[in-house]
Amino acid sequence: MSNATITASNELDIRALGKRYANTQSDGGELQVLDHIDLHVPAGSFVSIVGASGCGKSTLLRLVLGLDDQYEGQILLGGQPISGTGRERGIVFQDHRLFPWLTVAQNIAVGLRNAPYSAKEKAELVAEHVALVGLGGFERSWPHEISGGMAQRVAIARGLVNRPRVLLLDEPFGALDALTRSRLQNELQRIWQKEQITMLLVTHDVEEAVFLGNRVVVMQPSPGRIRRIVDVDLPHPRNRSDPAFIRLRDDVLSDFLDTEPHPRVTPPPRGGLPIGAVPQRLQLAW
Ligand SMILES: Nc1ncnc2c1ncn2[C@@H]1O[C@H](COP(=O)(O)OP(=O)(O)O)[C@@H](O)[C@H]1O
Ligand SMILES: [Mg+2]
Repeated sequence: MSNATITASNELDIRALGKRYANTQSDGGELQVLDHIDLHVPAGSFVSIVGASGCGKSTLLRLVLGLDDQYEGQILLGGQPISGTGRERGIVFQDHRLFPWLTVAQNIAVGLRNAPYSAKEKAELVAEHVALVGLGGFERSWPHEISGGMAQRVAIARGLVNRPRVLLLDEPFGALDALTRSRLQNELQRIWQKEQITMLLVTHDVEEAVFLGNRVVVMQPSPGRIRRIVDVDLPHPRNRSDPAFIRLRDDVLSDFLDTEPHPRVTPPPRGGLPIGAVPQRLQLAW
């Protein structure tokens, strides 16, 4: 089946988005979690949102996914307001959420549950996406037989198998070790380039945000707001040791070091870091 085409119908527009929760700490009060978020995600682009824990990143994705319709402002996909959840919006969470009683292939097929395809088309789509995420040969494996990184590949395949117009990713590699994380970041970049699906990633990992995004949205907490948007005008595939990449990464990082009075910065271990490891200072302990 063909790749998603970059058409205006795949662009996401978030306009003056606000979200309040009842404040459990005080009677009758409300907690403003998101305040006037304006964000345009062009069709086929990769936008990263980076921010401290608690600044509303997951809330924002929940709203775009359609799990909660109590908000102010507008969320438009291809110019149309979203309504509830829908197959045109896929999601990958930090924990893979695979069903332990289903095989790798069956877990991916879960993404096609309500899709209007024949059994043969579904089998083809599953096979295509097993290959896309590099899991050929593991179709019949059970979740307990595969590594955390492989389980996250399954979750990505499940999120993509329906050919969504937008893929939402909520800290998808947050629970993985540094080596697996950087390998999967490379994989995600390759998949995005191949599939041309609009992607919106939230993370608290600055390096990840800059490595993957065409555009990095820096959020600040209390209430969750956009602090600034940085264009990452670097060619793909990205190179982590490119001085231009490092400059941009450090520029975004400085936003957090400026605003946090006491960031917990840990020096690298004696003898340096293992190859591919992300320096500790980039994994801010929020
Ligand atoms: N269902 C909820 N009810 C009340 N408060 C919530 C709820 N979900 C999230 N919050 C609060 O909203 C804020 C943002 O949470 P979240 O979107 O999970 O942030 P992030 O993903 O950036 O860490 C936090 O202060 C959190 O406690
Ligand atoms: Mg979150």
